[in-house]
Amino acid sequence: MNYRIAVIPGDGTGPEVVAEGIKVLKAVAGPADIKFDFVYYDLGGERYLKTGETLPDSVLEELRGFAAIYLGAIGHPEVKPGILEKGILLRLRFELDQYINLRPVILYPGVETPLKNKGPEDINFVVVRENTEGLYAGAGGFLKYGTPDEVAVQESINTRKGVDRCLKFAFELARKRNRSKKLTLVAKTNVLTFASDLWERAFYAMAPQYPDVVTDYAHVDATCMWMVKNPEWFDVLVTDNMFGDIITDLGAIIQGGMGVAAGGNINPAGVSMFEPIGGSAPKYTGQKKVNPLAAIAAAQMMLEHLGEARAAAAVEEGIRKTAPQLKSMAAGQMGYDTTQVGDMVAKYAVEALKS
Ligand code: IPM
Ligand code: MG
Repeated sequence: MNYRIAVIPGDGTGPEVVAEGIKVLKAVAGPADIKFDFVYYDLGGERYLKTGETLPDSVLEELRGFAAIYLGAIGHPEVKPGILEKGILLRLRFELDQYINLRPVILYPGVETPLKNKGPEDINFVVVRENTEGLYAGAGGFLKYGTPDEVAVQESINTRKGVDRCLKFAFELARKRNRSKKLTLVAKTNVLTFASDLWERAFYAMAPQYPDVVTDYAHVDATCMWMVKNPEWFDVLVTDNMFGDIITDLGAIIQGGMGVAAGGNINPAGVSMFEPIGGSAPKYTGQKKVNPLAAIAAAQMMLEHLGEARAAAAVEEGIRKTAPQLKSMAAGQMGYDTTQVGDMVAKYAVEALKS
């Protein structure tokens, strides 16, 4: 198949890790009988500082025409927090209606986890984070801004339609993963008696359509505890945008850190976007110190999403073979530089395709 992919390397170390992901994609393309056309976009902090533009409407329209988007990182030390995140990353998620943020938490063999006595057999779950609503919807505002009487309101928006489509994706995924087929709803029904109530009712209303999936519920605070104490309890977790944001950083650290954690912003009927979930790590820019495995894992998720199962499996094999050879997943401590890690994954992935 032939795919047009939009590439947004972004800020800081984004371009360095994206280059490795592209290297791996190009390496597997031939042997897997795939053709990629990569079209680069310079969205990010530098462009904003030069032109004041975050995501121009014309670029957004172009992006709608791609098979997928491959993103490095957005965030620049000289730009006030919120401008690039809201103007680029969140705007893309919303405008392209990427209503699922899919975040696998998989500990690869040979990768160190900070959890005592836990290994790859214990840490293998996926968080399905709602990605277009909740506290991220931007509802709210200020009253009497900057005065002693100031009021700030930030509302969580939860629509039945938005919740249902997210739950449906999560139920289907639990079925497809075919592991313990357990879907855990993560919410806060003991306090958020409106928002979490809607999630809970929708969850149990849908459950009978998936009799093969075991349903479970956990409060978000307790989930944080169990992700550390008993991560093996989880298979698929489904939750709202804010809770999903928080628990997936916890997920990232138990799978070895931001150097390996990847995510997909999915619109099952539209254009999806894949990214390493760590930030732009500006202090390492240009030093070839950051770990590209997260960006490569994002590319792997993209292949999977495109239906290129063989290539995706080969890249995963490449990651699995490379990871144990790194001294650490952390930037500057891998024992290799960024490009060498990319070379290793590419080599093993191609070998996997040829064997
Ligand atoms: C993430 C990030 C973003 C989010 C930020 C950068 C806006 O933390 O992808 O998890 O909050 O969604
Ligand atoms: Mg986050």
